[in-house]
Amino acid sequence: MKGSNKVADVIDGKRVAAEIRQEVKQEVEDLRANGVTPGLAVVLVGDNPASAVYVRMKAKACEEAGIYSRVIRLPVETGQGELEAVVDELNADGAIHGMLVQLPLPPQIEERSITWRIDPAKDVDGFHPMNVGRMMIGDPLAFRPATPAGVIELLMRSGYDPSGKRVTIVGRSNIVGKPLSVLLSQKMKGGNATVTLAHSRTPDLPAVLREGDILVAAIGVPEFVKAGAVKPGAVVIDVGVNRVDDPGTEKGYRLVGDVAYEEVSQVASAITPVPGGVGPLTIAMLLKNCIVATRGIAGIA
Ligand code: GUN
Repeated sequence: MKGSNKVADVIDGKRVAAEIRQEVKQEVEDLRANGVTPGLAVVLVGDNPASAVYVRMKAKACEEAGIYSRVIRLPVETGQGELEAVVDELNADGAIHGMLVQLPLPPQIEERSITWRIDPAKDVDGFHPMNVGRMMIGDPLAFRPATPAGVIELLMRSGYDPSGKRVTIVGRSNIVGKPLSVLLSQKMKGGNATVTLAHSRTPDLPAVLREGDILVAAIGVPEFVKAGAVKPGAVVIDVGVNRVDDPGTEKGYRLVGDVAYEEVSQVASAITPVPGGVGPLTIAMLLKNCIVATRGIAGIA
């Protein structure tokens, strides 16, 4: 995708996310003109600091877009039955069109049965098996999970259509790697790539990742992807957000991605920063899913 001796272009997730959020704002205005205010509920159990930050950011983004938001904070010792009762209430609440339960959950709660309990029509995370299945078969009614959908949106809007490209992904989580591999290989706009889903047990992992014209890192290990795993000229998308201790900073930590940014930007043609790359897209795509949910529930095409 480019010659040598040039540092990679930086893919600006903040700019792309701002563009999407502006579009969402317009859609919210249209819905309000039809008498419907989209509503999102976010449930946070416990006080995981990273989760608390994400939840605050989601609520703030809703407000800025004109979406009604409700944050339900529950104590860390909340039981399965109590959380299920909250989900049931939100399922039945007419002011709420989308909901999510922030993960991870404390150990006494079985995540699987919570995921199954959320009304698939309000499942803006796209984690309910009904939506996972719909996504798998390319059903346009599926909620696409926000982070993988955000990666595709970021590629498309930055001029890196994955169609016809080799994409290597490292990391096979249900939230990012696995659904991203499905979406990128789908016969649709933003898809049509040839995808390799690699992981911690892939033999000769750097050589496999080096096959990618586009490389996506989503393994959750700080600076895991080194320059030797990157094809010269590749486009590198870093989904990782890792807190590493740094006593020299005010907060005592800093955020680093799953990619060794400095060395990889000497090899890649384009790269996403952390923060400011994929992260802002995740929130923007969640807002988009809220619009989809509201249209579905309110019956507005
Ligand atoms: N934790 C990390 N990412 C996510 C996400 O996309 N949704 C929820 N609910 N929890 C998360």
